[in-house]
Amino acid sequence: MRVFLSFILGLLGTLSLAAKPARESMEDITARVFRLARVQYIAMDAMIPEGKYPTSIKKGALATASATTWVSGFYPGSLWYIYLYDNDARIRALAEKYTRAMEPALRSHISHDLGFQFNCSCGNALRITGDEQWRPMLLEAASLLAGRFSPVTGVTRSWNFSPKGKEWKYPVIIDNMMNLELLTEAARLTGADSLRTMAVTHARTTIRNHFRPDATCYHVVDYDPGTGEVRWRGTHQGYADESAWARGQGWAVYGFTMMYEKTGEEDFLRQAEAVARMLLRRLPADGIPFWDFDAPEIPDEHKDASAAAIMASAFVRLASLTADKKLSKQCRAMAETQLRTLASPLYLSVPGENCGFLLKHSVGNLPKKSQVDVPLTYADYYFLEALLRWNKIL
Ligand code: GLY
Repeated sequence: MRVFLSFILGLLGTLSLAAKPARESMEDITARVFRLARVQYIAMDAMIPEGKYPTSIKKGALATASATTWVSGFYPGSLWYIYLYDNDARIRALAEKYTRAMEPALRSHISHDLGFQFNCSCGNALRITGDEQWRPMLLEAASLLAGRFSPVTGVTRSWNFSPKGKEWKYPVIIDNMMNLELLTEAARLTGADSLRTMAVTHARTTIRNHFRPDATCYHVVDYDPGTGEVRWRGTHQGYADESAWARGQGWAVYGFTMMYEKTGEEDFLRQAEAVARMLLRRLPADGIPFWDFDAPEIPDEHKDASAAAIMASAFVRLASLTADKKLSKQCRAMAETQLRTLASPLYLSVPGENCGFLLKHSVGNLPKKSQVDVPLTYADYYFLEALLRWNKIL
């Protein structure tokens, strides 16, 4: 009888195993995504007009812009990440072509976005290949960005414009934390301490002025350029001045994690940890935030895959830097959830669709009804980066 029972139990066990397919490993997810990326990004190249860079999809067609757009560096950056993963000569040739074509953006820069543009393109080219040809462009971009720093405000200025009715004098957005990596990289390459000091000063000023007591951050802080006093705090792309715009929170956790990694300043680690704890409390079960954590119609609001990808990349890195073991585990678990969701059919495109982009369902600027529920080039970039970081390739 006992033999019979154990036979039946064994059979049931085998059947239940057969019914439940094994969970795809993160390594297999990564291989699947990078296979897709290779196909999609080669197809995308054929759709891009000469001298342009992919941004998103508009009216069903690939949307592109010149090298001066803030997102130009992400397509070459993603190509460099694909090359890092598969070492494919064809991908490298494309990465070189689009990195070289970034040059005109040095002649007509109009904002702080030089970091996004040149660290993602030339910076990755130099780090991944060691080819010195990319160094001058990277250093020139860093020196242009340094020209936007003021010792009075203690921050680099983000935008030169002020929207109608706002009268900003010296706007600084949380996104600007990301551009500091260009300054720290240039400091490392040249030994120019002044660039490192600017980056550190900007990050310290941002801790003082951009954050609320609950560790959420404002999108925009406007400074008086004459005194350094804060004139105004609010939003440009979020739901409300006092809300937590999702991508901004992503830039914050990524920016302070990166600044701790680059400088070893403990304050930056504390700030990254505080933002991460806030995010871990507020992110939904699938790990993909709504476009603003305080959007009024949640759960009937758009999700933002780009914010999830940025956070996932930051969480993987923070997990390896923090000494708080519990936080480290939670960050890695959340990153895994986010990456699994992004790699699912709900978010990931199939070969030949989505104009060559990998991810669907991001939000650019919802209040302006611009780029809502579309692919965005930076969503793909940080998604690939997060997977490389997860697998310790980066
Ligand atoms: N840096 C602009 C944005 O995140 O939309």
